[in-house]
Amino acid sequence: MKNIDKNSLENAYRLFESKDIETIEIVTSKGLQEIHRYLFGGLYDFAGEVRKLNISKGGFRFANALYLNEILVKIEQMPENNFEEIIAKYVEMNIAHPFMEGNGRSMRIWLDMILKKKIKKVVNWQFVDKTLYLQSMERSPINDLELRTLLKENLTDEVDNREIIFKGIEQSYYYEGYEKDNDE
Ligand SMILES: Nc1ncnc2c1ncn2[C@@H]1O[C@H](COP(=O)(O)OP(=O)(O)O)[C@@H](O)[C@H]1O
Ligand SMILES: [Mg+2]
Repeated sequence: MKNIDKNSLENAYRLFESKDIETIEIVTSKGLQEIHRYLFGGLYDFAGEVRKLNISKGGFRFANALYLNEILVKIEQMPENNFEEIIAKYVEMNIAHPFMEGNGRSMRIWLDMILKKKIKKVVNWQFVDKTLYLQSMERSPINDLELRTLLKENLTDEVDNREIIFKGIEQSYYYEGYEKDNDE
């Protein structure tokens, strides 16, 4: 694992260990930017900054950078009263993909914070299969049924369980190809 990713993983652990996560204004786009800044501050010069360039992945073009700030305001106004609404909001935020890099890792923490606040549950990511998850994310701009089903099966009400949170963070980095090295 490259130093930059190792440092970011350490930052993610620290976000929860220090309870700094509790000071972050979660439901807003600004909250997502704060999470991003926390994970990648000092590592990427764009930490916490909304991108100014257009990006795509697997042939999917994320929101046009020209309209990104307006789009973020719209997403912020989306309801989040139940699981389905929260997932719909998460899917829109993924389509926005506000950062040049680190969207997946910061957004999964953001999603969990919303779920915790609104329905007193979080995703138990350690049991969410990598391939199924990434496939369902690719599918989600067209239809979010797969994603909803996958995450609903893996909700837990143990929202403050340290092991569940830390295993979840490791899984989140694993989805993006970052694995803890065994030789250190
Ligand atoms: N083709 C796609 N369509 C929609 N979303 C995608 C696609 N490919 C990847 N994603 C989402 O983007 C995330 C990766 O975004 P990225 O900015 O690289 O985050 P990170 O740096 O944390 O890996 C994945 O976790 C997934 O949720
Ligand atoms: Mg990435």
